[in-house]
Amino acid sequence: MTASSSRIPGFYNLPLAERHARLRALGALDEAQLEALASGGLAAEAANSMIENVVGTFNLPLGIALNFVVNGRDVLVPMAIEEPSVVAGASFMAKLARAGGGFRASADAPEMIGQMQLLHVDLDKAALALEKAKEELLAEAAQADPVLQKLGGGPRHLRIRRIEASPIGPFLVLHLIYDVRDAMGANAVNTACERLAPRIEALTGGRVHLRILTNLADRRLARAACAIPLSELAFGEFSAEQVRDGIIEAWAFAAADSYRAATHNKGIMNGVDAVVIATGNDWRAVEAGAHAYAARSGRYTSLSTWGKGADGALVGSLEMPMAVGIVGGATKVHPAAQAALALMGVKTAADLAQIIVSVGLAQNLAALRALATEGIQRGHMTLHARQVAMAAGAQGDVIEKLAGVLVNEKTVRIDRAEQLLKEWSNG
Ligand code: MEV
Repeated sequence: MTASSSRIPGFYNLPLAERHARLRALGALDEAQLEALASGGLAAEAANSMIENVVGTFNLPLGIALNFVVNGRDVLVPMAIEEPSVVAGASFMAKLARAGGGFRASADAPEMIGQMQLLHVDLDKAALALEKAKEELLAEAAQADPVLQKLGGGPRHLRIRRIEASPIGPFLVLHLIYDVRDAMGANAVNTACERLAPRIEALTGGRVHLRILTNLADRRLARAACAIPLSELAFGEFSAEQVRDGIIEAWAFAAADSYRAATHNKGIMNGVDAVVIATGNDWRAVEAGAHAYAARSGRYTSLSTWGKGADGALVGSLEMPMAVGIVGGATKVHPAAQAALALMGVKTAADLAQIIVSVGLAQNLAALRALATEGIQRGHMTLHARQVAMAAGAQGDVIEKLAGVLVNEKTVRIDRAEQLLKEWSNG
């Protein structure tokens, strides 16, 4: 099931039960999927079979980002995250991008890299022997996962790399490039590497030490781009040109400075991780790949770029490794992850990767737009003030009114909220 439109005006203001009703009416989710999302999805018994020493489960808020159009298709995006403003920011930026046609995204073939560390060999002789045996080794690696092979995946290349200098001296590293289709792929790759190791040892006389995939999945990149028309950029006292140029200046800071780039990329990962988590994928793997890729030139820098298009529009792009799957692991056993995948209507891991980078780019834009104009705290404080207003007992329209006064007064405190409520009820 997927909704035909990702625009649901007023969704933000609906009570929880009505949000469910809207999703049901739109055909975005069925009853069982809604129940899985509402309950956190994972029963303690199921959790008990996933990891060790289970004593319970740990829930996160699950929100839906609206307005996304990715490669011409409307998509409702599930985001699991504890931080306020992220879902709202992504939805709002997706709305601006929508006016420019939405996000254009692409993903490379799902090729992961397995590494084998070969020690105690003459580098030249071992490299020659392995070079000659490449076809045989690839055929052996294909035996590791006949199902993947049948689906069109399997080993693609074997690369021999020389590490000339290390704390233990020189050694060889073999990279097994493995197409993992719609899986994240760690299991398939690790199994293939372990299977190859004895043959490599026999061919070279050396010892294969580590056999493990790399999270720097730089053959499995995903990229997204968007153009925000100038007409969408002006707000408050800020002109469209001021907002656009302010965002480009903010990006330039991250492009040139690693301290800023770390925070800039953290903003991107706010969006990326939230979808990776909602779909039961390994966000540590995606994080590791992202930051290693950001440092690929030898200097850590921004994962995204922002500039001015020919027509004056603000144009942005993001490219990063995206090792996510839609089969296997938690994606398969976690009912909420299944519902999240169903909501987006993704058919392949590449579809999912393209949506995730689009959300990362939207999130980056949300942060830069706020930072380059009114600052990040105003939005945060408004959300915080709403919570304080509710805690003080405000209901209905009064929540918004009270929150507004608290933010304007810069006194987002419960005692002040209670005092105002008392005054208003007396007056
Ligand atoms: C906060 O979670 C993320 C930001 O710091 C990102 C950024 O500075 O670009 C706002």
